[in-house]
Amino acid sequence: MTVTAVFSRCTWPLLCAIALVAGASTTARAEAGRAAIDERIERLLSQMTVAEKIGQLAQVNADEGKISGKLRAAIKAGEVGSVLNAVDVATVNELQRLAVKESRLGIPLLMGRDVIHGFKTVLPIPLGQAAAWNPDLVQEGARMAALEAAASGVNWTFAPMIDVARDPRWGRIAESFGEDPYLASVLGVASIRGFQGDDLSRPGAIAACAKHFVGYGASEGGRDYGFVGIPDVELRNVHMPPFKAAVDAGVATFMAAFSDVNGVPASGNRFLMRTVLRDEWHFPGLVVSDWESIIDMTVHGFAASKKDAAFEALSAGIDMEMASTAYRDYLAKLLAEKRIDQDTLDTAVRNVLRVKFRLGLFERTVTDPSAYPAVASAANFALARRLTTQSLVLLQNRNEVLPLARASLRSLAVIGPMADDDYEQLGTWIFDGDPALSRTPLHAIREMAGPHVAVRHVRAMETTRTRTTAAFADAVAAASSADAAVLFLGEESILSGEAHSRANIDLPGNQMDLVRAVKSAGKPVIVVILAGRPLTIEPILAAADAVVYAWHPGVMAGPAIADILFGVESPSGKLPVTFPRMVGQVPIYYAHRNTGKPPIPSAFVHIDDIKVRTPQTGMKNKSQYLDAGYEPLYPFGYGLSYTRFAYSDIEVVPARARVGVPVTVRAVVKNVGKVEADEVAQLYVQDVVGSITRPVRELKGFQRVHLKPGESREVSFQLSADDLAFYGRDMQRATEPGAFHAWIGGSSTAELRADFELTAN
Ligand code: BGC
Repeated sequence: MTVTAVFSRCTWPLLCAIALVAGASTTARAEAGRAAIDERIERLLSQMTVAEKIGQLAQVNADEGKISGKLRAAIKAGEVGSVLNAVDVATVNELQRLAVKESRLGIPLLMGRDVIHGFKTVLPIPLGQAAAWNPDLVQEGARMAALEAAASGVNWTFAPMIDVARDPRWGRIAESFGEDPYLASVLGVASIRGFQGDDLSRPGAIAACAKHFVGYGASEGGRDYGFVGIPDVELRNVHMPPFKAAVDAGVATFMAAFSDVNGVPASGNRFLMRTVLRDEWHFPGLVVSDWESIIDMTVHGFAASKKDAAFEALSAGIDMEMASTAYRDYLAKLLAEKRIDQDTLDTAVRNVLRVKFRLGLFERTVTDPSAYPAVASAANFALARRLTTQSLVLLQNRNEVLPLARASLRSLAVIGPMADDDYEQLGTWIFDGDPALSRTPLHAIREMAGPHVAVRHVRAMETTRTRTTAAFADAVAAASSADAAVLFLGEESILSGEAHSRANIDLPGNQMDLVRAVKSAGKPVIVVILAGRPLTIEPILAAADAVVYAWHPGVMAGPAIADILFGVESPSGKLPVTFPRMVGQVPIYYAHRNTGKPPIPSAFVHIDDIKVRTPQTGMKNKSQYLDAGYEPLYPFGYGLSYTRFAYSDIEVVPARARVGVPVTVRAVVKNVGKVEADEVAQLYVQDVVGSITRPVRELKGFQRVHLKPGESREVSFQLSADDLAFYGRDMQRATEPGAFHAWIGGSSTAELRADFELTAN
């Protein structure tokens, strides 16, 4: 921000002057800090042998967290820069001791771990966290996870995953913040801030890792590790923005995607890693490969040998090799043969050392767990409960069967394979989680319902994939004798996550039949779904009076779900990803292009109703599926509440402005129902005509507000030129003048609209 910009916004000139001086001195301090680090790096680098330099680029897996004789010797010889998957604090301290005390130059180790959604206190999977649309809580969650992990000596997490994920078949959608570049950017930055804090060198701050650069979420067919074919303009407008935001937020490290991106695997992709990441974005941090992704390039058919793979990766700018040893085995030869030069090697080493200096590892290598807050503490569980409660999305609530009225409730049937499974509620990537800490829905319901409610539990299916119906009769009997039935369905943790893609995303096994069977008991049926992805749940909607989507909610699944079922809290989660009606609609996302022949309701005839011998053009030629229409089951941003919200008075000020002058979009949101609740107000914008076609809508802002019945609040969003910029036909990022539509409302189908215009001058 320039001086004039600061003063022009200043109401209190003196305070602003002080702030400015303080700001200037903070910047000066940061610059001095950077210069001091650079000097230390150069000093160290000048003492290093080629072998020691190559050692810094090696990340070695600690098999089952143990220190093998081989690992011990390698660290002492200065051949290891980082260890991953050691989390026992005594082991970590010993590894660091070997590096610092027994290697020639005493360079400490980066200790990496996948701290993806909590450490001991397992939070909702990232897709669930995204459904809370609450960056503050995501940041607090990451901070909590960082502290828990740091107490074990971990100083680097491979998170956040900020791949834009538009395919629910892809198992790793669970680890994503969903389909939208803006939401993923905001939540990615929030996690980076949580992990890293303001100052990486403070105890409890750990280095974050923006992964997987880039396009991994667009794996062909939703099959993990699949080919990624994306035009550069889409890469830049859709998949790169969260990564650019991560760089701007000071993320310490990046991880390359496994993906073959447009024919060049990310681990050997100079355009991505050098042109974009370094030359354009000036990323000063460390880039790590993914697990063996360097040697995978021989399998991709991009490198003829591991040696060539090492050459391609280092030349592309991959600083550290995870798990495999192509760098260790071939970099010295490549250097001797002059295929790579000294400077390329030194730059990679500098990037590794810089993170170590920034983390303050040279000053503080021993971890003393007693210096950290307790892990899995009551405070951490309380945070997990808040985040989980806000992540639950109410999809359907016929006849307002929810919330359950505790006062009049006498009996409840709790049914299904996910009702009391302490492991499966945790989700994918829970290396350090402990199912014994989980509070299951069944337990929490029993506790919250109190002694006057008879709770009968029938598991009904051994797993979500069970095909027998033998226990259904018990479930129906339990439902018949209860005031209501709550079914806990979904998919086990192992059905999503890395390498766990699905081609059919229905509720597995006989779960759909179970819902129908329970419905035959004639009681209200409430379905709670625990899953790592959107599932195609349309077939159960007729039988389920209410549906709550809980994702994999983590340790506090039970209390959070009970809070919603009994109305202690009103649901406030909103979908971070579109729910398809059928898998054949995938990819389906709200920010799609209009096409030249967009669908209209009057032109849709369902396949069952098409008359025989309808002429070829008799159905008006619109972009739709004959069997699935053109709409999703639930749109992005959707989620019900126990109250209702009304939006009004939208305006854009100024409604006409020069490009570069910020405009403000505002509207009033009012709680017109009977209970107090949170609402996530969302702003969408359409750039009506562009040098390349623009999405029909794009999320540009959101705000979580809490409103009492009858209360209203103005929500207001400022849009700068940058917020409206995109890469156009000439591949330059710019804000193009012209007409814009803006909508504010409770989902991506919001109808309250105001228009504005940006002029060239
Ligand atoms: C995953 C990464 C992860 C790494 C280390 C890989 O298989 O793709 O996301 O960080 O393993 O566990």
